[in-house]
Amino acid sequence: MRSALYNKLLLVFGPRPPLNWLLLFLVSILVLIALLGSSSTNGFDSVATSARPDIFSNYRRLKEQAVSDYLELKKLGANPSNDFDLCGKERENYVPCYNVSANQLAGFSDGEEFDRHCEISREHQYCLVRPPKEYKIPLTWPSGRDVIWSGNVKLSKDQFLSSGSMTKRLMLLEENQISFHSDDDEMTVDGVKDYSHQIAEMIGLGSDADFHEAGVRNVLDIGCGFGSFGAHLLSLRLMAVCVAAYESTGSQVQLALERGLPAIIGNFISKQLPFPSLSYDMVHCTQCGIFWDDKDGMFLIEVDRILKPGGYIVLTSPRSRQQRNKGSISTPLEEYTQKLCWNLVAKQEDTFTWQKTTDARCYISKHGTFPLCNGDDGPSYYKPLVRCISGTGSKRWIPIQNRTSGSLGSSELAIHGINPEDFYEDLEFWRSALRNYWSLLSPLIFSDHPKRPGDEDPMPPYNMVRNVMDMNAHYGGFSTALLEARKSVWVMNVVPVGERNTLPTILDQGFAGVLHSWCEPFPTYPRTYDMLHAKGLLSHLATEKCSTVDLIFEMDRILRPEGWVIISDKVAPIEAARTLVTQLRWEARVIDLQDGSDQRLLVCQKPFVRK
Ligand SMILES: *[C@@H]1O[C@H](CO)[C@@H](O)[C@H](O)[C@H]1NC(C)=O
Ligand SMILES: *[C@@H]1O[C@H](CO)[C@@H](O)[C@H](O)[C@H]1NC(C)=O
Repeated sequence: MRSALYNKLLLVFGPRPPLNWLLLFLVSILVLIALLGSSSTNGFDSVATSARPDIFSNYRRLKEQAVSDYLELKKLGANPSNDFDLCGKERENYVPCYNVSANQLAGFSDGEEFDRHCEISREHQYCLVRPPKEYKIPLTWPSGRDVIWSGNVKLSKDQFLSSGSMTKRLMLLEENQISFHSDDDEMTVDGVKDYSHQIAEMIGLGSDADFHEAGVRNVLDIGCGFGSFGAHLLSLRLMAVCVAAYESTGSQVQLALERGLPAIIGNFISKQLPFPSLSYDMVHCTQCGIFWDDKDGMFLIEVDRILKPGGYIVLTSPRSRQQRNKGSISTPLEEYTQKLCWNLVAKQEDTFTWQKTTDARCYISKHGTFPLCNGDDGPSYYKPLVRCISGTGSKRWIPIQNRTSGSLGSSELAIHGINPEDFYEDLEFWRSALRNYWSLLSPLIFSDHPKRPGDEDPMPPYNMVRNVMDMNAHYGGFSTALLEARKSVWVMNVVPVGERNTLPTILDQGFAGVLHSWCEPFPTYPRTYDMLHAKGLLSHLATEKCSTVDLIFEMDRILRPEGWVIISDKVAPIEAARTLVTQLRWEARVIDLQDGSDQRLLVCQKPFVRK
């Protein structure tokens, strides 16, 4: 069966063509497009201009995109060596859009200077972010969860020594390694295990193995320390995603991702998190540095927005700016939580646990609560924080305790407006696509006689990648296929702004996911993903009028050395992307699946440049 598959596969290969030749090739494609474009324009003019205006305008945009990509490429081609230079050492841990001093200069204050402002730090210096001198390829999962190379993350010894909070204490610095105590390490008094157990007991469970029974499947961990709590929750088959502010050194997000744990840079100082309302079953914060009673409780309202009905809020040592008034029985924090219809489930030592109401009428019937938001709240991308309660009118207002376990059934799909047949067909497609992809993750396909691993060669191991990003995730079918095939991965499912917003469907399957505009850099540190997958993204980008060149450079930044890229798209954007990625020194092969379609795969591996 594999050999049939192999026979169906045609690998297009050859030596790298010189740049001039490539430019000539691009020009001829452009001429061709222009010719075809003008003839079909005439066709539309005479027959169907009014009937098919959007096809025409999409087409024109594609054409414009091709021209601008060509011009950009030509400009880049001025580089005498034809390859791009490495950025300076100061960019080793570069995350665009978080330049605090530039934001201050632009007039942002009140904490907003720490927000993401991509419009300010736009610059077009194309260079490749280099790895630190001591960078080493991370250990594979699960060893990589407990031991990381200290040269791979930016962490000073002082930061390490001063790390005092519970989740941070669990590290030991060895020569060039940082190790975290694993769960089954009996030598240590592991605070995380006890802590997780304590939370389970507080919400009335016998042990933390029972979180699923209480309807808890996904957890948003705000400010995750070094990720140990999340690592423990993952071992209990919960999806725990860390979200923390950008930090130039000692970043919690960088550390968590280096350990192979789901994490993303984010804050909610003035803008909503890029998640829809009613997304998470539990929101957790241990000393995450937020003053919860600031801004008249706006931060608490944002937590309420992303939480599902009946979901839990766990705050340990919550900070409060205002001191308790003398003689008053309740702190401002308690007042806000009452106004939000959160029910205090338990308080033990410094840990408070509330449950969000399951009854949307609570907000109306009770005097003094926040008002309900009007209408559908739409995709949350750079949306300002709101002073109203979201999600009460949503079809997704279902208490977590009432949810059926396992995959989405047809009644849930109906809630998401998805045709079950469409959904299962998509899943079937990804099951077979994955079998295909996995066999391509081998340096063998870049050799002079490219081939997939045959019977005599072992298949790539199940744990060869850990942090995977699906850059255009649709329903999350690629994640499902990976998990069904028992690959040891987690997937960041990205729903591009402008595509159909399927993020609620992704999150309701218990996956990690986020909204993102690929016209901008992704909020993560360099070298944090082992594999990037993008189906149809290049075509989507053309309709959004953003630059393919910027995208490919961004992919290079977030991909670790020797990491993999699989791009699936139509012939023309794939060929253009190949031209570009070879200039970035990626190994690249275009693969024609010989299924009669104009779809091609571009399989790439980023080299480990040590300079
Ligand atoms: C941040 O912005 C300042 C002021 O515009 C600039 O001088 C500096 O080079 C920027 N830093 C980075 C890392 O881009
Ligand atoms: C949830 O389940 C409870 C008990 O079975 C039921 O009384 C309640 O109506 C359900 N709520 C919703 C919104 O389905």
